[in-house]
Amino acid sequence: NAILSWQRTAYHFQPEHNWMNDPNGPLFHKGWYHLFYQYNPDSAVWGNITWGHAVSKDLIHWLHLPFAMVPDHWYDINGVWTGSATILPDGQIVMLYTGDTYDVKQVQCLAYPANLSDPLLLDWVKYSGNPVLVPPPGIGAKDFRDPTTAWLSPDGDKWRITIGSKVNTTGISLVYETVDFKTYDMLDGYMHAVPGTGMWECVDFYPVSMSEINGLDTSVSGSGVKHVLKASLDDDKNDYYALGVYDPIEDKWIPDDPKLDVGIGLRYDYGKYYASKTFYDQNKQRRILWGWIRETDSEYADIWKGWASVQSIPRTVMFDQKTGSNILQWPVSEVEELRSEIVEFDNVKLGPGSIVPLKVDTPSQLDIVASFEIDEDAFEGTVEADAGYSCPTSGGAANRGELGPFGVIVLGDKTLSEGTPIYFYVTKGTNGKFETHFCADELRSSLAPDVDKVVYGSKVPVLHGEKYSLRSLVDHSIVESFAQGGRTVITSRVYPTRAVDGAARVYLFNNATKVSVTASVKMWNMGSADIRTFPLNEQ
Ligand code: FRU
Repeated sequence: NAILSWQRTAYHFQPEHNWMNDPNGPLFHKGWYHLFYQYNPDSAVWGNITWGHAVSKDLIHWLHLPFAMVPDHWYDINGVWTGSATILPDGQIVMLYTGDTYDVKQVQCLAYPANLSDPLLLDWVKYSGNPVLVPPPGIGAKDFRDPTTAWLSPDGDKWRITIGSKVNTTGISLVYETVDFKTYDMLDGYMHAVPGTGMWECVDFYPVSMSEINGLDTSVSGSGVKHVLKASLDDDKNDYYALGVYDPIEDKWIPDDPKLDVGIGLRYDYGKYYASKTFYDQNKQRRILWGWIRETDSEYADIWKGWASVQSIPRTVMFDQKTGSNILQWPVSEVEELRSEIVEFDNVKLGPGSIVPLKVDTPSQLDIVASFEIDEDAFEGTVEADAGYSCPTSGGAANRGELGPFGVIVLGDKTLSEGTPIYFYVTKGTNGKFETHFCADELRSSLAPDVDKVVYGSKVPVLHGEKYSLRSLVDHSIVESFAQGGRTVITSRVYPTRAVDGAARVYLFNNATKVSVTASVKMWNMGSADIRTFPLNEQ
């Protein structure tokens, strides 16, 4: 079991044992960030879904608390499923969640803290009139789940929530209005619908400022604001979002670009990342995104090691004012508290086909920031290179082109029998246009046979005058990578057997056939988060 213990993360949020899935009801209250999550108290596979609960002062160090809610009523006896918190202007906290009933129907339920003056919000009360919503006519009893945080209607006198569903294979978001969170009116039609996208789980809906870097509270609307609509597609298990404009009078959301609509366009993350949820952090005026990162080893391995899944490092979300067509995701600044001993390499020349090892102390716990420049002449001289390239299907980092791949290899061993390249790959189409792809290649990430090994990635906008820049957070079995300040993000779960702990190595590489690349890198050893269980034992 020694190998498996190396796979546990050191600074990502994980329960001590067993199965975890979606983040639920994140909020900030009286000095503490609260995270609830889908949890199976009995095993490392999904089931008996209960709300785990933990608190943190800084989103990095955690205190595990007793369960917030367990499946104990007819309306949630098959599971206390995903839900969201709303903080009312008077400070009240409202929690709406999906109950899976005794006869396996999905209903929405209301809960609230027993004692608002308790900063830890230890006790939760389920409303005696639950459920507050049942599937409406025409909606399947198993297609009605995951209520959002509420926002105010245009008159400011009612709250609205949206709930994902589907009609045939069209993914939809239903909207309800309520005054007291106990009784609701369904608004006509859908806020949005996209044919062919199937069931929308864990819908999220929130404003982003077009001119400010701060986040916006969920009810903000009007000029200078765009709205993000996100759906977790049950059919392909990825989180898709789109930027658009919300008309609160008509209660319709229209995507900026119909070709990049929800479910057919942009993803939050091109690796393993699902069932995410944002909340507005009134403490630091930012919007924070949490996401569930599942295992990509076998269920058998999960049972053997006794746990499954981690949460991503929480990410700040904002509108990308430079491109105007995507959001930016960036690890919350608090993660930098874990940094120590910076190692810097400036202007490292990487000729075609070169690999350079970099020396660091804690190679399996790192924060890496790297930028790359391509030598201009080679760039100019290229006629056409790799048009049609796509990370998942173009063979990974071993596939050499004129203008890529180049990047870093993390969690590699001494002989590179294992290693996970995170890289850029530049192409030039027959139309003369350059495009950049950002990829993570797991093909050689592990010598273990029963783990998924794929190449993830997508295009990333690189604007005139920008270097190719990446940041990777490495934490034993997870690598979260951000390109161009968070325009494109890839989360990988990898299961090295040799490149573990101190035996792991980091490399810079340029596997292009034609261009030379100049790299500059900063790396920090990352400490471990302090994650404890309540009540704290006196030492
Ligand atoms: C998403 C999801 C939600 C549901 C929950 C159950 O991963 O399927 O739709 O509420 O998980 O655990």
